[in-house]
Amino acid sequence: MPFISLEGIDGAGKTTHLQWIADYLREQGGTVVVTREPGGTPLGESLRALLLNEPMHIDTEALLMFAARCEHIAQIIAPALSRGEWVLSDRFTDASFAYQCGGRGIAESRLQVLEEWVQQGLQPDLTILFDVEVSIAHQRVRTHSDPDRFEQEQLDFFERVRAMYLRRASQYPARFRVVRTDQTIEAIRSELAAVLKPLSGN
Ligand code: TYD
Repeated sequence: MPFISLEGIDGAGKTTHLQWIADYLREQGGTVVVTREPGGTPLGESLRALLLNEPMHIDTEALLMFAARCEHIAQIIAPALSRGEWVLSDRFTDASFAYQCGGRGIAESRLQVLEEWVQQGLQPDLTILFDVEVSIAHQRVRTHSDPDRFEQEQLDFFERVRAMYLRRASQYPARFRVVRTDQTIEAIRSELAAVLKPLSGN
């Protein structure tokens, strides 16, 4: 069964649509494992707490993202896929390229090495990129009461993150679908249904 990742800059609205997508897939008769990165396992959630709150070197940040991912694949993603279940992950490796390379400036060649090491060829079958202008996303995030290390970044950081996401979407058109989130919820859901329907085999 397919492995689907959801991506987008902070405030793009992906979390709003996650549960709806999971419900949609379940209605098609599948078993869906909903998970997230960084996180998804007890160790990964401990790493998430550090990554979102503790100041650290940018390389440490990138390495911990992939350490959490390694555990996530071994404990959750690979077993679920081999049981024939759907995996729906709130972020995956495109987030590392977007945030750590686009946002922080780490060379993509470094992450490509980690990607190969940790994933050994595993890639999502479908990546839905929720996209909206940074100014709109930023307004949504500003209302969060206790912003994490990423949410505290400035507009130019998110411009670079968004540009990298869009670059990857055009680099891997077979895997990516870009959904604009400055539309009504109904319009977004009908786009999502059109994207998901062919995968469900119904
Ligand atoms: P996010 O997915 O936005 O969760 P929430 O909606 O609960 O805030 O938070 C995860 C943060 O981690 C997000 O700001 C992006 C960042 N991140 C990276 O920088 N690199 C990665 O590889 C991943 C998976 C996430």
